Amino acid sequence: MQNVLVTGGAGYIGSHACKALKRAGFQPVTYDNLCAGWQDSVKFGPFEKGDLLDRARLDEVFAKYQPVAVMHFAALSQVGESMQVPGKYWQNNVGGSLTLLEAAVAANCKNFVFSSTCATYGDQDNVVLDENSTQAPINAYAASKRAIEDMLRDFEGAHGLRHVIFRYFNVAGADPECEVGEFHQPETHLIPIMLGAIDGKRDALTIFGTDYDTPDGTCIRDYVHVCDLVDAHILGLSWLLSDKESRVFNLGTGSGFSVREVIDQSRAVTNRDVPYFEGPRRAGDCTRLVSGSTRAEKELGWAPSRSNLHTMISDAWRWYQTGYYEK
Ligand code: UFG
Repeated sequence: MQNVLVTGGAGYIGSHACKALKRAGFQPVTYDNLCAGWQDSVKFGPFEKGDLLDRARLDEVFAKYQPVAVMHFAALSQVGESMQVPGKYWQNNVGGSLTLLEAAVAANCKNFVFSSTCATYGDQDNVVLDENSTQAPINAYAASKRAIEDMLRDFEGAHGLRHVIFRYFNVAGADPECEVGEFHQPETHLIPIMLGAIDGKRDALTIFGTDYDTPDGTCIRDYVHVCDLVDAHILGLSWLLSDKESRVFNLGTGSGFSVREVIDQSRAVTNRDVPYFEGPRRAGDCTRLVSGSTRAEKELGWAPSRSNLHTMISDAWRWYQTGYYEK
């Protein structure tokens, strides 16, 4: 069985990717320092605890498993925090990725799937965001991701390390079988915060800004189901293993929903009231991030099947009710 090194495999998206890799016949090897992940989410292959900045540990793990590819999810990802302590983001995300890339090249592992973000496009109102759109990040988190994209291009030129870059829109939902799901500590994402508020286990939701230039004044996002998202990664891996050229793909559905629309849908799914306040804007938030690309569908054959708001919130709610949030 071929090994795939999954950095951040104990996290939300990484753990779903491990499940998808196992189903696709690969052995996912999780490399994670557990700063944001959970060891009990590592269910589908071996676990190697380690930090991205620890080159010796990375060398050891590459030598032990000789992976055919790396899927690189591990990153600090809180937009707000990245504005307050940008150095942490540059060190961990950019420095850590550099160490990982150097270890991969030294181990002759030359296929790399990278988690980037639509936040690298920045705040471009009313512009269709496709893979050729200008990247103009407005926060340090997104800037760190764009820097890693640049690094990947340089490493391809110099060392022949090929990559698939996925620019995620807003990832939501959970494994419908509830083996893994979303659990961040602290939680900053809209849907899990809202479910906690609905359940009375969290304070009421605060809507961050109601004066945006959108039809209802709240920010618009393109939500994509985590299972659809990781399916694209399996297709991206096959793309690289069949020797195709490096490529960038947006992963979004092309449909945008405002914060108020997400609240309405959550009320419909749970059949409960959503307690909320209207508050000021959150620093670093873009007004509207919606994908305008079908490249992943056309070229990879990606066919998202669960990325409608109702299914995403239903799956997140089912996972929420497993009680994982109370651990
Ligand atoms: N929001 C609220 N209240 C909350 C939490 C969020 O109103 O308590 C709003 C935000 O202001 C935003 C929307 O809900 O308008 C979505 O916010 P999230 O925090 O769920 O997601 P973001 O769009 O800020 O960021 C997420 C990931 C980033 C990624 C980005 C790409 O956290 O890593 O999607 O859009 F870069």
